[in-house]
Amino acid sequence: MTDLKSSSEDIIIRFKDVYKSFGRHDILKGISFEVPRGQVLGLMGGSGTGKSVTLRHVIGLLKPDSGRVEVEGRNVPDLTKHELADLRKRMGYVFQEGALINWLTVAENLALPLQENTKLSKSEIDDLIAEKLKMVHIPDAGEKLPSEISGGMKKRVGLARALITDPDIILYDEPNAGLDPQIARSINELMREIADQHHATALVVEHRLECIETVCDEVVFLYGGKALVHEKTADFLRPTHPQLIEFLGPEARNA
Ligand SMILES: Nc1ncnc2c1ncn2[C@@H]1O[C@H](COP(=O)(O)OP(=O)(O)OP(=O)(O)O)[C@@H](O)[C@H]1O
Ligand SMILES: [Mg+2]
Repeated sequence: MTDLKSSSEDIIIRFKDVYKSFGRHDILKGISFEVPRGQVLGLMGGSGTGKSVTLRHVIGLLKPDSGRVEVEGRNVPDLTKHELADLRKRMGYVFQEGALINWLTVAENLALPLQENTKLSKSEIDDLIAEKLKMVHIPDAGEKLPSEISGGMKKRVGLARALITDPDIILYDEPNAGLDPQIARSINELMREIADQHHATALVVEHRLECIETVCDEVVFLYGGKALVHEKTADFLRPTHPQLIEFLGPEARNA
């Protein structure tokens, strides 16, 4: 057991023996891990093991059946609606599905979190949108509707939207999905840069080892509803645990 007093100040996200089932489907079966301030923690695991479910607990979209999901020392399910709304303002969430509003342009999608959470003027908002679109390499996409851009571009708009308020906590759900290798590389570098420069704390769900290697300080392997392996990235990518070796395959040793 670590010293609770000092750890509760530095641990930004903490899962403590979290259980979650959907009907008779037990997904999380006692998952525990911690993310200290400024750390980027990767979450890997097979499809359907509960990675997205885990992220949704952090932002309070799901409640655990038992156990604690703490953000900055407070149990998220215990927060009032108002407290939860305040917490979400400081979080960025890159949704696996993109989750853009289809009838708004890209620029309007990006403006939403700023209009809701800040008092910035229209021209300040426009500047931020231009800056973030440039950052994700689609400077000219602002006037387009989501239906007019490719899947990879939608992903990048989702990323720009999650980062536009400079959040303290960022949850990335497969940020590389649908991106070509070159764009993926630059997005990974961007994620790392954000971690280094803003000291944002992040959880990254990703299958691609290149992303994990570039971006994450440590990695958790979800297996059987538990955090089976939790190691520093370099050690994680040289697995000794049989289930992790099987999951990562021969690619791991070349990573
Ligand atoms: N709201 C829900 N209601 C019922 N079942 C759900 C719900 N959300 C998730 N599940 C189920 O929980 C399991 C874990 O889902 P989750 O989306 O977390 O998987 P994942 O690890 O993110 O997989 P992938 O790599 O394919 O994205 C799946 O079997 C899914 O069908
Ligand atoms: Mg998922």
